Amino acid sequence: MKVLVVGGGGREHAIIRKLKESSLVTKLYAAPGNGGISADAECVPIKATDIEKMVDYAKKHEIDFVVVAPDDPLVMGMADAMNEAGIRTFGPNKAAAIIEGSKAFSKNLMKKYGIPTAAYEVFDDPQKAIDYIRVQNTYPTVIKADGLALGKGVVIAEDFHAAEEAVKSMMEDKIFGESGSHVVIEEFLTGPEVSVLAFTDSKVMKPMISSKDHKRVFDHDRGPNTGGMGTIAPNPYYTDEIAERCMKEIFRPTMEAMVKEGRPFKGCLYFGLMLTPKGPKVIEYNCRFGDPETQVVLPLLDTDLMEIFLAIDEERLSDLDIRWKKGAAACVVMASGGYPKKYPTGLPITGLDAGGQTAGATVYHAGTKREGDLYFTSGGRVLGVTAIGDNLTDALNQSYAAVKNISFEGCHYRNDIGGHQNN
Ligand code: AMP
Ligand code: GLY
Repeated sequence: MKVLVVGGGGREHAIIRKLKESSLVTKLYAAPGNGGISADAECVPIKATDIEKMVDYAKKHEIDFVVVAPDDPLVMGMADAMNEAGIRTFGPNKAAAIIEGSKAFSKNLMKKYGIPTAAYEVFDDPQKAIDYIRVQNTYPTVIKADGLALGKGVVIAEDFHAAEEAVKSMMEDKIFGESGSHVVIEEFLTGPEVSVLAFTDSKVMKPMISSKDHKRVFDHDRGPNTGGMGTIAPNPYYTDEIAERCMKEIFRPTMEAMVKEGRPFKGCLYFGLMLTPKGPKVIEYNCRFGDPETQVVLPLLDTDLMEIFLAIDEERLSDLDIRWKKGAAACVVMASGGYPKKYPTGLPITGLDAGGQTAGATVYHAGTKREGDLYFTSGGRVLGVTAIGDNLTDALNQSYAAVKNISFEGCHYRNDIGGHQNN
């Protein structure tokens, strides 16, 4: 099969490298891909959100299957457009992708079907939102833009002033555009966070190995939130007992709720969970693989990923036995100086071979450009260095050892991924 993966980050690189192992896949394309991905797939210069061009390309090149990895093309309906053109896809249609595209939708869904989540209210009027915050008078309080905001639409406000500022900047100054025309104000939850990605064909739900993301930019969870500075899998807090409870109280009810709403979800449903003192609760849903969770989850997958994609498309996931490797995986993200704020690009990267790899780990490229055999930085998150080991310590040691082989000017990474101390 000729397979096209839409997107151009570390997550897409991890999907591509897994698909490369499949005997069902004869040729891989990525659009737009990136420098490192070009070592594993043919990169096509089409923006991930350009639905029309993507469909035209897929038709013209007789692509058999399209994997739509990022949130925005899914929320815009790329899977629908591909299916209308007769091309099979992995990724939910627009009606189902709303589970990530609108926080108001997902919160109302959870309320209607009794799925545990933080208490909340939705507002379309900034004054009403501010009055509600004043009356509630509990801090911290959480303010979320309704729509997609590049992972930046969440503010944890420590006092009334900060909360008011957040509401005004989202609803009046529109810092996230129309995403902020509605806001969700919700209860602040505490407890360890767990990411669970799950394959589903809307009939059964098969969770993948759990993982943990590290969202803050600096060690000891300091500094601003990022797209994710590193991940480990499995998540040590996610016991079998909690997994069973999540299946019963969260995963299956969510899948069934989407069917009842006439929005059956087929693809990868991402559960951002918090293990609160009152049990596991949903922080957020995503309609896609997580980034950088995918960079630790897929390396542990022991079943042909293309087979899974086909089974989901054909709604026969229940027949498939999905196997996982023993052991653990760790991914350390190497970021550009200044990220998540302003950062330079175009800096040469040393320590990578012609294939963009280094000894002892797998290097997933998130933001690189390639010129001949040389690689240059082109994004905020540049590389995700993943190793698998017999246990978490082993995986982390290997990953950090490989990170030390690689450098570029201003490069920074966290030294405490998975609780590891890299000093
Ligand atoms: P999100 O963009 O929805 O993943 O939110 C970003 C981060 O904000 C999450 O990973 C949590 O750490 C935090 N967060 C979101 N909602 C809440 C909440 N209700 N209580 C506490 N922390 C939250
Ligand atoms: N790592 C968080 C996300 O993919 O949204």
